[in-house]
Amino acid sequence: MNIFDLSDKTALVTGASSGLGWRFCEVLAAAGAHVIAAARRVDKLNELVSSIKQAGGSAESLKLDVRNFEQVKKQISGLNQHIDICINNAGIAIDTPIFEDNQNNFESVMQTNVLGVWYVTQVVAGIMKDQKIDGSIINISSIYGHSRLEEKQSAYCASKAAVSQLTKSLVGELSKFSIRINAIAPGAILTPMTPKWDHNNIPVGFLAEPSDLDGALLFLASNKASRYVTGSCITVDGGISWGGIE
Ligand SMILES: NC(=O)c1ccc[n+]([C@@H]2O[C@H](COP(=O)([O-])OP(=O)(O)OC[C@H]3O[C@@H](n4cnc5c(N)ncnc54)[C@H](OP(=O)(O)O)[C@@H]3O)[C@@H](O)[C@H]2O)c1
Repeated sequence: MNIFDLSDKTALVTGASSGLGWRFCEVLAAAGAHVIAAARRVDKLNELVSSIKQAGGSAESLKLDVRNFEQVKKQISGLNQHIDICINNAGIAIDTPIFEDNQNNFESVMQTNVLGVWYVTQVVAGIMKDQKIDGSIINISSIYGHSRLEEKQSAYCASKAAVSQLTKSLVGELSKFSIRINAIAPGAILTPMTPKWDHNNIPVGFLAEPSDLDGALLFLASNKASRYVTGSCITVDGGISWGGIE
C-alpha cells in the first residue's frame, strides 16, 4: 500500500510559478494528483504545466492574484471541479525597517501573506464543504512566524505568525466538515526568495533544496497518511530555530 498515493485527487497550489510552489506542483503530480498551478505569471505556469505533462503528470494553470478576493472567488469557483488539496504557498518578503516610511510595504506583505491565505482558504473550504470532500489545506508559514526573528522583517514575521495561528484557529470550524488544515514552517530553503544563506549557521550544515519539503508536503496532503493530523505545524529547518546563529 502506498499511503502517499494521490490518484484521483485534485490539488490547487498558489505561488506555483517559482521556488517552493513549483516543486510542490511537481511532487503532487508525481504522486498522482491533477495539479492546478496558480500565480500571476502565466508564462511561468505554462512552462511548469508542460514539464509536468512531459513527465506523465496532469496539470493546468490558473492566473490568480491572491490579494484580490473577487478574482480569487471567480477564478477558483470558475474551475468547476473538486479540490481535495490546497497549498497556500504564495508569499512575499519585503524588508520593513521600523525607522523608515514603510506603510505600503507592510500592507503589501500582509495583503499577500495573510489576506491571500484567508481568501483562498475561504473559497476552497467552501467548495470542499459543499461537495462533501475530505479536504486537506496546507499553509506555508515560516520559522520566522514563531521561533526565529529577523531584523527589518517585522511585516514578514508578523504575517507568518498570523498564518500559523490562522491554521490552528480554523480547526474547529473546518473539522465539522472533515477538512483538515495544517502548516509547514520551512527554515532557509534555496529559492529566488532565499538565494543564499551561510550554511555554517545551519546546525545540519547545509542549505535545503525545495525537495527537502517533499515528505512533509505529501504526509499532510494525503488523508491515508495523516487523517488524524489537523492544526499542526511541521517545522523543516535543519535546526535553525534552535541552534542557528545569524
Ligand atoms: N525560501 C525560503 O527559504 C522560505 C522559508 C520559509 C517560508 N517560505 C515561504 O514559502 C513560500 C514560497 O516562497 P519561495 O521561497 O518559493 O518564494 P518565491 O520563489 O519568491 O515564490 C513566491 C511565489 O509566490 C507567488 N506570489 C507572490 N505574490 C502573489 C500574489 N499576489 N498572488 C499570487 N501569487 C503570488 C509568486 O508568483 P507570481 O509572482 O507569478 O505571482 C511566486 O510563485 C512563501 O510563502 C514564503 O514566505 C520560504
